[in-house]
Amino acid sequence: VNTLLPIDSKDRLIVALDFSSAESAFALVKELGGLVSFYKVGIELQLAGGMSPVQRLIGEGKKVFLDLKYFDVPETVRRAVEKAATSGVSLLTVHGNGENSLQAAVRGRGATELKLLAVTVLTSVDQAGITDAGFRCSVEELVLTRARKALEAGCDGVIASGMEAAKLRELLGEDPLIVTPGIRPEGSAKHDQKRTETPGEAIRAGADYIVVGRFITTAPSPRAAAERVLAEMEAGFKARKPAQRI
Ligand code: C5P
Repeated sequence: VNTLLPIDSKDRLIVALDFSSAESAFALVKELGGLVSFYKVGIELQLAGGMSPVQRLIGEGKKVFLDLKYFDVPETVRRAVEKAATSGVSLLTVHGNGENSLQAAVRGRGATELKLLAVTVLTSVDQAGITDAGFRCSVEELVLTRARKALEAGCDGVIASGMEAAKLRELLGEDPLIVTPGIRPEGSAKHDQKRTETPGEAIRAGADYIVVGRFITTAPSPRAAAERVLAEMEAGFKARKPAQRI
């Protein structure tokens, strides 16, 4: 990758298509035409439309992040990833809490172009949630441990909140992909999310991509909301050190 090329924020914004029908998802895709070219398909839209929304997005020249957060016994994960790798999606998530399953996911991906991302700790979980689940460490420690194990297993990157992105960059270097959800511009509704950051903060902290759902999908004008996010990302990229990778 040529690190001297300027970064285009439009390539780094992923919009989460959390819709109950393909029809409503594609109405949004149409509205965001020319602004957004990377979309996340998750468990809801996949149940509504199977793989056809993914195929349609790819057919329309969009990139797809398939966010099904695979978590199962290693062989089942390996086979699912192998199948997903034939679909043309660019990014796929697996859960980052099982070393053997992560290694199996990497075997399933094989020599394909698919980038595997490990979910570290959901952005809807805070310290109280971690403690309640029986972990005797901080959210940050758990994110860092899972991230390190995922990369050792051969994953390409992690999903992590903007709150941990800077620490991840510091400890893991410039190579791993960091994809950050839980993004909300200043003053907007948090919904079920806890570890949120603004688009600018996440980019400045070192995120490669940000994922935005409801701030855009439920906005009175999704297009205006996307433009606001892109402008904040732009400012975030400008504030980064020149040496930081694209
Ligand atoms: O609507 P909102 O912007 O909160 O959507 C965030 C999206 O990112 C959702 O689709 C959610 O599934 C996903 N996600 C997340 N936290 C993670 C991994 C994925 O919020 N750790």
